[in-house]
Amino acid sequence: MTDLNQLQADLSNQIAAAPDAATLEAIRVATLGKTGSVSALLKTLGSMSPEVRKLQGPAINALRDQVAAQLLARKSDFEAAELEARLAREQVDLTLPSPQRRKGSVHPTMQTMDEMVSIFAEMGFAVAEGPDIEDDFHNFTALNFPPKHPAREMHDTFFFNPGADGERKLLRTHTSPVQVRAMRRGNTAPPAPWIAAGQEPPIRIIVPGRTYRLDSDATHTPMFHQVEGLVIDKGIHMGHLKWTLETFISRFFETDAVMTRFRPHHFPFTEPSAEMDVGCDRSGGEIRIGTGSDWLEILGCGMVHPNVLRNCGIDPDVYQGFAFGMGVDRLGMLKYGMPDLRDMFASDTRWLAHFGFSAFQAPNPVSGLS
Ligand code: DAH
Repeated sequence: MTDLNQLQADLSNQIAAAPDAATLEAIRVATLGKTGSVSALLKTLGSMSPEVRKLQGPAINALRDQVAAQLLARKSDFEAAELEARLAREQVDLTLPSPQRRKGSVHPTMQTMDEMVSIFAEMGFAVAEGPDIEDDFHNFTALNFPPKHPAREMHDTFFFNPGADGERKLLRTHTSPVQVRAMRRGNTAPPAPWIAAGQEPPIRIIVPGRTYRLDSDATHTPMFHQVEGLVIDKGIHMGHLKWTLETFISRFFETDAVMTRFRPHHFPFTEPSAEMDVGCDRSGGEIRIGTGSDWLEILGCGMVHPNVLRNCGIDPDVYQGFAFGMGVDRLGMLKYGMPDLRDMFASDTRWLAHFGFSAFQAPNPVSGLS
Protein backbone atom coordinates (compact mmCIF):
# COMPACT_ATOMS: atom_id res chain seq x y z
CA MET A 1 0.00 0.00 0.00
CA THR A 2 1.24 3.43 -0.91
CA ASP A 3 2.55 5.50 1.92
CA LEU A 4 0.13 8.37 1.71
CA ASN A 5 2.15 10.60 4.00
CA GLN A 6 5.24 10.09 1.92
CA LEU A 7 3.32 10.72 -1.29
CA GLN A 8 1.82 13.87 0.10
CA ALA A 9 5.21 15.14 1.20
CA ASP A 10 6.67 14.42 -2.27
CA LEU A 11 3.84 16.14 -4.07
CA SER A 12 3.97 19.08 -1.70
CA ASN A 13 7.68 19.50 -2.46
CA GLN A 14 7.09 19.22 -6.19
CA ILE A 15 4.36 21.85 -6.12
CA ALA A 16 6.45 24.20 -4.03
CA ALA A 17 9.40 23.76 -6.39
CA ALA A 18 7.43 24.27 -9.64
CA PRO A 19 9.17 27.17 -11.37
CA ASP A 20 6.24 28.27 -13.51
CA ALA A 21 2.53 27.84 -14.29
CA ALA A 22 3.18 25.30 -17.07
CA THR A 23 5.09 22.94 -14.72
CA LEU A 24 2.34 23.37 -12.14
CA GLU A 25 -0.25 22.37 -14.71
CA ALA A 26 1.80 19.29 -15.64
CA ILE A 27 1.82 18.29 -11.95
CA ARG A 28 -1.93 18.78 -11.75
CA VAL A 29 -2.48 16.52 -14.75
CA ALA A 30 -0.07 13.90 -13.35
CA THR A 31 -1.88 13.81 -10.00
CA LEU A 32 -5.52 14.88 -10.27
CA GLY A 33 -5.93 14.31 -14.03
CA LYS A 34 -7.95 11.38 -15.34
CA THR A 35 -4.97 9.05 -15.30
CA GLY A 36 -3.13 10.91 -12.52
CA SER A 37 -1.58 9.18 -9.51
CA VAL A 38 -4.04 10.52 -6.93
CA SER A 39 -6.99 9.72 -9.20
CA ALA A 40 -5.61 6.17 -9.51
CA LEU A 41 -5.55 5.85 -5.70
CA LEU A 42 -9.15 7.00 -5.53
CA LYS A 43 -10.08 4.29 -8.01
CA THR A 44 -8.59 1.59 -5.73
CA LEU A 45 -11.25 2.38 -3.09
CA GLY A 46 -13.84 0.34 -4.97
CA SER A 47 -11.92 -2.91 -4.64
CA MET A 48 -11.17 -2.56 -0.90
CA SER A 49 -12.93 -4.37 1.88
CA PRO A 50 -15.32 -2.12 3.82
CA GLU A 51 -13.01 -2.05 6.89
CA VAL A 52 -9.94 -1.01 4.93
CA ARG A 53 -11.96 1.49 2.89
CA LYS A 54 -13.21 3.05 6.12
CA LEU A 55 -9.63 4.02 6.95
CA GLN A 56 -8.21 4.57 3.48
CA GLY A 57 -11.21 6.49 2.06
CA PRO A 58 -10.90 9.59 4.25
CA ALA A 59 -7.10 9.50 3.99
CA ILE A 60 -7.02 9.39 0.16
CA ASN A 61 -9.77 12.00 -0.13
CA ALA A 62 -7.87 14.24 2.30
CA LEU A 63 -4.74 13.78 0.17
CA ARG A 64 -6.70 14.74 -2.98
CA ASP A 65 -8.14 17.84 -1.26
CA GLN A 66 -4.77 18.93 0.05
CA VAL A 67 -3.03 18.51 -3.28
CA ALA A 68 -5.85 20.42 -5.00
CA ALA A 69 -5.71 23.25 -2.47
CA GLN A 70 -1.94 23.51 -2.73
CA LEU A 71 -2.06 23.56 -6.54
CA LEU A 72 -4.66 26.31 -6.42
CA ALA A 73 -2.71 28.41 -3.97
CA ARG A 74 0.47 28.12 -6.02
CA LYS A 75 -1.44 28.92 -9.19
CA SER A 76 -2.79 32.14 -7.77
CA ASP A 77 0.76 33.01 -6.62
CA PHE A 78 1.89 32.71 -10.23
CA GLU A 79 -1.06 34.76 -11.47
CA ALA A 80 -0.43 37.51 -8.95
CA ALA A 81 3.26 37.58 -9.88
CA GLU A 82 2.39 37.77 -13.59
CA LEU A 83 -0.01 40.64 -12.94
CA GLU A 84 2.67 42.48 -10.94
CA ALA A 85 5.14 41.99 -13.76
CA ARG A 86 2.66 43.25 -16.36
CA LEU A 87 1.78 46.31 -14.33
CA ALA A 88 5.44 47.11 -13.99
CA ARG A 89 6.03 46.54 -17.71
CA GLU A 90 3.02 48.43 -19.08
CA GLN A 91 3.65 51.86 -17.78
CA VAL A 92 1.90 54.74 -19.50
CA ASP A 93 4.15 57.64 -20.33
CA LEU A 94 1.81 60.59 -20.15
CA THR A 95 4.53 62.92 -21.36
CA LEU A 96 4.60 61.29 -24.83
CA PRO A 97 2.90 63.32 -27.60
CA SER A 98 -0.36 61.67 -28.70
CA PRO A 99 -0.42 60.04 -32.13
CA GLN A 100 -1.53 62.24 -35.03
CA ARG A 101 -5.14 61.50 -36.02
CA ARG A 102 -6.12 61.74 -39.67
CA LYS A 103 -8.91 64.27 -40.00
CA GLY A 104 -11.45 63.59 -42.74
CA SER A 105 -13.04 66.41 -44.73
CA VAL A 106 -16.09 66.94 -46.88
CA HIS A 107 -15.27 66.69 -50.58
CA PRO A 108 -15.79 69.98 -52.48
CA THR A 109 -18.27 68.26 -54.81
CA MET A 110 -20.40 67.10 -51.88
CA GLN A 111 -20.12 70.53 -50.28
CA THR A 112 -21.23 72.16 -53.55
CA MET A 113 -24.09 69.70 -53.91
CA ASP A 114 -25.23 70.35 -50.32
CA GLU A 115 -25.14 74.07 -51.01
CA MET A 116 -27.24 73.64 -54.15
CA VAL A 117 -29.74 71.41 -52.38
CA SER A 118 -30.07 73.86 -49.52
CA ILE A 119 -30.69 76.81 -51.87
CA PHE A 120 -33.31 74.92 -53.88
CA ALA A 121 -34.88 73.52 -50.72
CA GLU A 122 -35.34 77.09 -49.57
CA MET A 123 -37.23 77.74 -52.83
CA GLY A 124 -39.54 74.80 -52.19
CA PHE A 125 -37.89 72.06 -54.26
CA ALA A 126 -37.85 68.44 -53.04
CA VAL A 127 -34.93 66.08 -53.69
CA ALA A 128 -35.50 63.07 -55.97
CA GLU A 129 -33.08 60.32 -56.91
CA GLY A 130 -32.68 57.70 -59.63
CA PRO A 131 -30.38 54.79 -60.45
CA ASP A 132 -26.91 55.26 -61.96
CA ILE A 133 -27.51 52.25 -64.22
CA GLU A 134 -30.30 53.27 -66.54
CA ASP A 135 -32.09 51.87 -69.55
CA ASP A 136 -32.35 53.37 -73.00
CA PHE A 137 -35.98 54.32 -72.42
CA HIS A 138 -35.39 56.61 -69.43
CA ASN A 139 -32.04 58.02 -70.57
CA PHE A 140 -33.01 58.70 -74.20
CA THR A 141 -36.34 57.55 -75.64
CA ALA A 142 -38.72 59.07 -73.11
CA LEU A 143 -36.66 62.28 -73.28
CA ASN A 144 -37.52 62.60 -76.95
CA PHE A 145 -34.15 61.53 -78.39
CA PRO A 146 -35.19 60.20 -81.83
CA PRO A 147 -34.05 56.60 -82.51
CA LYS A 148 -30.79 56.46 -84.49
CA HIS A 149 -30.62 60.25 -84.38
CA PRO A 150 -27.13 61.76 -83.92
CA ALA A 151 -28.44 63.47 -80.79
CA ARG A 152 -28.36 60.02 -79.21
CA GLU A 153 -24.65 59.88 -79.86
CA MET A 154 -24.24 63.41 -78.48
CA HIS A 155 -23.34 61.83 -75.19
CA ASP A 156 -20.44 59.38 -75.26
CA THR A 157 -22.33 56.68 -73.49
CA PHE A 158 -20.92 53.78 -71.46
CA PHE A 159 -23.02 50.79 -72.50
CA PHE A 160 -23.19 47.41 -70.75
CA ASN A 161 -23.20 44.18 -72.74
CA PRO A 162 -26.75 43.27 -73.73
CA GLY A 163 -28.61 41.07 -71.22
CA ALA A 164 -30.43 37.81 -72.00
CA ASP A 165 -33.42 39.82 -73.24
CA GLY A 166 -31.15 41.78 -75.63
CA GLU A 167 -31.58 44.97 -73.60
CA ARG A 168 -28.50 47.15 -73.37
CA LYS A 169 -28.25 48.95 -70.01
CA LEU A 170 -26.08 52.02 -69.71
CA LEU A 171 -24.53 54.37 -67.17
CA ARG A 172 -26.76 57.41 -67.22
CA THR A 173 -25.23 60.24 -69.22
CA HIS A 174 -27.23 62.88 -67.38
CA THR A 175 -29.63 63.21 -64.45
CA SER A 176 -32.53 63.99 -66.84
CA PRO A 177 -33.89 60.38 -66.78
CA VAL A 178 -34.99 61.07 -63.20
CA GLN A 179 -37.37 63.69 -64.64
CA VAL A 180 -39.08 60.83 -66.45
CA ARG A 181 -39.19 58.65 -63.33
CA ALA A 182 -40.67 61.51 -61.30
CA MET A 183 -43.32 62.39 -63.89
CA ARG A 184 -44.44 59.02 -65.20
CA ARG A 185 -47.98 58.14 -64.30
CA GLY A 186 -48.12 54.49 -63.38
CA ASN A 187 -44.56 54.51 -62.03
CA THR A 188 -45.88 53.66 -58.59
CA ALA A 189 -43.46 50.84 -57.72
CA PRO A 190 -39.91 52.03 -58.41
CA PRO A 191 -37.24 49.30 -58.27
CA ALA A 192 -35.80 50.61 -54.97
CA PRO A 193 -37.27 52.74 -52.19
CA TRP A 194 -34.91 55.65 -52.83
CA ILE A 195 -35.75 55.87 -56.55
CA ALA A 196 -38.29 58.55 -57.49
CA ALA A 197 -41.85 57.37 -57.95
CA GLY A 198 -44.21 59.12 -60.35
CA GLN A 199 -45.92 62.14 -58.80
CA GLU A 200 -49.00 64.11 -59.71
CA PRO A 201 -48.30 67.71 -60.77
CA PRO A 202 -47.48 70.16 -59.38
CA ILE A 203 -43.94 68.78 -59.33
CA ARG A 204 -40.96 70.71 -58.07
CA ILE A 205 -37.86 68.57 -57.71
CA ILE A 206 -34.11 68.72 -57.93
CA VAL A 207 -32.03 65.66 -58.64
CA PRO A 208 -28.43 65.56 -57.43
CA GLY A 209 -26.45 62.59 -58.67
CA ARG A 210 -23.58 60.94 -60.50
CA THR A 211 -23.41 60.89 -64.28
CA TYR A 212 -21.03 59.21 -66.73
CA ARG A 213 -19.57 59.96 -70.15
CA LEU A 214 -16.57 58.64 -72.01
CA ASP A 215 -14.57 61.83 -71.72
CA SER A 216 -11.43 62.94 -69.93
CA ASP A 217 -9.52 66.24 -69.99
CA ALA A 218 -9.00 69.26 -67.71
CA THR A 219 -12.73 70.05 -67.71
CA HIS A 220 -14.19 66.55 -68.20
CA THR A 221 -14.00 63.35 -66.15
CA PRO A 222 -15.68 60.02 -67.03
CA MET A 223 -17.72 60.31 -63.83
CA PHE A 224 -19.08 63.68 -62.81
CA HIS A 225 -22.04 65.13 -60.94
CA GLN A 226 -25.13 66.98 -62.04
CA VAL A 227 -28.06 68.62 -60.39
CA GLU A 228 -31.23 68.45 -62.45
CA GLY A 229 -34.27 70.59 -61.82
CA LEU A 230 -37.87 70.06 -62.89
CA VAL A 231 -40.99 72.13 -62.32
CA ILE A 232 -44.38 71.03 -63.70
CA ASP A 233 -47.55 72.98 -63.06
CA LYS A 234 -50.26 74.95 -64.83
CA GLY A 235 -49.21 78.22 -66.47
CA ILE A 236 -45.45 77.75 -66.13
CA HIS A 237 -43.36 79.86 -68.54
CA MET A 238 -39.80 80.96 -69.31
CA GLY A 239 -40.11 83.81 -66.82
CA HIS A 240 -40.33 81.30 -63.97
CA LEU A 241 -37.30 79.50 -65.32
CA LYS A 242 -35.23 82.68 -65.57
CA TRP A 243 -36.17 83.89 -62.10
CA THR A 244 -35.43 80.53 -60.51
CA LEU A 245 -32.02 80.19 -62.13
CA GLU A 246 -30.97 83.79 -61.59
CA THR A 247 -32.01 83.60 -57.95
CA PHE A 248 -30.10 80.35 -57.57
CA ILE A 249 -26.94 81.72 -59.18
CA SER A 250 -26.80 84.84 -57.05
CA ARG A 251 -27.41 82.80 -53.88
CA PHE A 252 -24.80 80.25 -54.93
CA PHE A 253 -22.09 82.80 -55.70
CA GLU A 254 -23.25 84.90 -52.75
CA THR A 255 -23.43 88.15 -54.71
CA ASP A 256 -26.21 90.20 -56.30
CA ALA A 257 -23.82 91.37 -58.96
CA VAL A 258 -24.06 88.21 -61.08
CA MET A 259 -24.96 88.86 -64.75
CA THR A 260 -26.70 86.08 -66.64
CA ARG A 261 -27.40 85.51 -70.33
CA PHE A 262 -29.68 82.95 -71.96
CA ARG A 263 -28.52 81.70 -75.37
CA PRO A 264 -30.79 79.62 -77.65
CA HIS A 265 -29.63 76.03 -77.83
CA HIS A 266 -30.96 72.60 -78.69
CA PHE A 267 -31.86 69.75 -76.34
CA PRO A 268 -34.26 67.05 -77.53
CA PHE A 269 -36.20 67.20 -74.26
CA THR A 270 -36.88 70.94 -74.09
CA GLU A 271 -38.49 73.44 -76.47
CA PRO A 272 -37.40 76.17 -76.49
CA SER A 273 -33.99 75.27 -75.08
CA ALA A 274 -31.28 77.56 -73.81
CA GLU A 275 -27.87 77.60 -72.27
CA MET A 276 -27.27 80.00 -69.45
CA ASP A 277 -24.00 81.92 -69.22
CA VAL A 278 -22.76 83.97 -66.30
CA GLY A 279 -20.76 87.11 -66.69
CA CYS A 280 -17.17 86.76 -65.55
CA ASP A 281 -13.70 88.13 -65.80
CA ARG A 282 -11.01 85.90 -67.26
CA SER A 283 -8.09 88.30 -67.07
CA GLY A 284 -5.16 87.27 -64.89
CA GLY A 285 -5.46 83.54 -65.59
CA GLU A 286 -8.41 82.95 -63.28
CA ILE A 287 -12.15 83.20 -63.60
CA ARG A 288 -13.95 85.67 -61.38
CA ILE A 289 -17.73 85.80 -61.18
CA GLY A 290 -19.69 89.03 -60.70
CA THR A 291 -17.32 91.26 -62.65
CA GLY A 292 -15.83 91.57 -66.14
CA SER A 293 -17.18 91.31 -69.66
CA ASP A 294 -16.66 87.63 -70.53
CA TRP A 295 -19.28 84.87 -70.43
CA LEU A 296 -19.08 81.35 -69.09
CA GLU A 297 -21.54 78.59 -69.87
CA ILE A 298 -23.04 77.23 -66.64
CA LEU A 299 -26.06 75.09 -67.44
CA GLY A 300 -28.63 73.86 -69.95
CA CYS A 301 -32.34 74.53 -69.55
CA GLY A 302 -35.64 74.97 -71.32
CA MET A 303 -39.37 74.35 -71.33
CA VAL A 304 -40.17 70.65 -71.06
CA HIS A 305 -40.97 69.33 -74.55
CA PRO A 306 -44.65 68.34 -75.04
CA ASN A 307 -43.47 64.91 -76.27
CA VAL A 308 -41.70 64.32 -72.95
CA LEU A 309 -44.84 65.23 -71.04
CA ARG A 310 -46.87 62.89 -73.27
CA ASN A 311 -44.32 60.08 -72.81
CA CYS A 312 -44.91 60.46 -69.08
CA GLY A 313 -48.70 60.52 -69.32
CA ILE A 314 -49.05 64.25 -68.65
CA ASP A 315 -51.32 66.32 -70.89
CA PRO A 316 -49.24 69.19 -72.34
CA ASP A 317 -52.40 71.19 -72.98
CA VAL A 318 -53.01 71.27 -69.23
CA TYR A 319 -49.52 71.30 -67.76
CA GLN A 320 -46.28 72.99 -68.71
CA GLY A 321 -42.91 72.93 -67.07
CA PHE A 322 -39.31 73.93 -67.16
CA ALA A 323 -36.17 71.93 -66.54
CA PHE A 324 -32.49 72.55 -66.14
CA GLY A 325 -29.30 70.60 -65.63
CA MET A 326 -25.95 71.78 -64.34
CA GLY A 327 -22.54 70.32 -63.64
CA VAL A 328 -21.88 70.30 -59.90
CA ASP A 329 -18.13 69.75 -60.08
CA ARG A 330 -17.67 72.57 -62.57
CA LEU A 331 -19.67 75.02 -60.46
CA GLY A 332 -17.68 73.93 -57.42
CA MET A 333 -14.42 74.53 -59.30
CA LEU A 334 -15.61 77.99 -60.24
CA LYS A 335 -16.69 78.90 -56.74
CA TYR A 336 -13.70 77.51 -54.92
CA GLY A 337 -10.97 78.12 -57.52
CA MET A 338 -9.90 74.59 -58.38
CA PRO A 339 -8.17 74.60 -61.75
CA ASP A 340 -8.39 70.97 -62.97
CA LEU A 341 -11.50 68.79 -62.77
CA ARG A 342 -9.45 65.57 -62.76
CA ASP A 343 -7.92 66.51 -59.37
CA MET A 344 -11.41 66.28 -57.88
CA PHE A 345 -11.39 62.50 -58.20
CA ALA A 346 -7.69 61.67 -57.87
CA SER A 347 -8.07 60.81 -54.15
CA ASP A 348 -4.93 62.77 -53.26
CA THR A 349 -5.22 63.33 -49.52
CA ARG A 350 -3.11 66.51 -49.69
CA TRP A 351 -5.56 67.98 -52.21
CA LEU A 352 -8.50 66.85 -50.09
CA ALA A 353 -7.02 68.34 -46.94
CA HIS A 354 -6.50 71.64 -48.77
CA PHE A 355 -9.84 71.94 -50.59
CA GLY A 356 -12.04 69.85 -48.27
CA PHE A 357 -14.60 71.33 -45.89
CA SER A 358 -15.27 70.72 -42.22
CA ALA A 359 -18.01 68.20 -41.57
CA PHE A 360 -19.21 70.47 -38.76
CA GLN A 361 -20.14 73.26 -41.16
CA ALA A 362 -22.93 71.75 -43.21
CA PRO A 363 -24.28 74.47 -45.49
CA ASN A 364 -27.69 75.87 -44.74
CA PRO A 365 -29.47 79.08 -45.63
CA VAL A 366 -29.49 80.35 -42.05
CA SER A 367 -25.91 79.92 -40.87
CA GLY A 368 -24.40 80.40 -44.34
CA LEU A 369 -23.41 78.29 -47.27
CA SER A 370 -19.69 77.88 -46.82
N1 DAH B 1 -29.17 66.86 -69.62
C1 DAH B 1 -28.42 67.96 -70.18
C2 DAH B 1 -26.95 67.56 -70.26
O1 DAH B 1 -26.54 66.73 -69.53
C3 DAH B 1 -28.54 69.18 -69.34
C4 DAH B 1 -29.93 69.70 -69.41
C5 DAH B 1 -30.27 70.65 -70.36
C6 DAH B 1 -30.88 69.29 -68.52
C7 DAH B 1 -31.54 71.14 -70.45
C8 DAH B 1 -32.18 69.80 -68.60
C9 DAH B 1 -32.48 70.72 -69.57
O2 DAH B 1 -33.13 69.42 -67.78
O3 DAH B 1 -33.72 71.21 -69.63
O4 DAH B 1 -26.24 68.11 -71.05
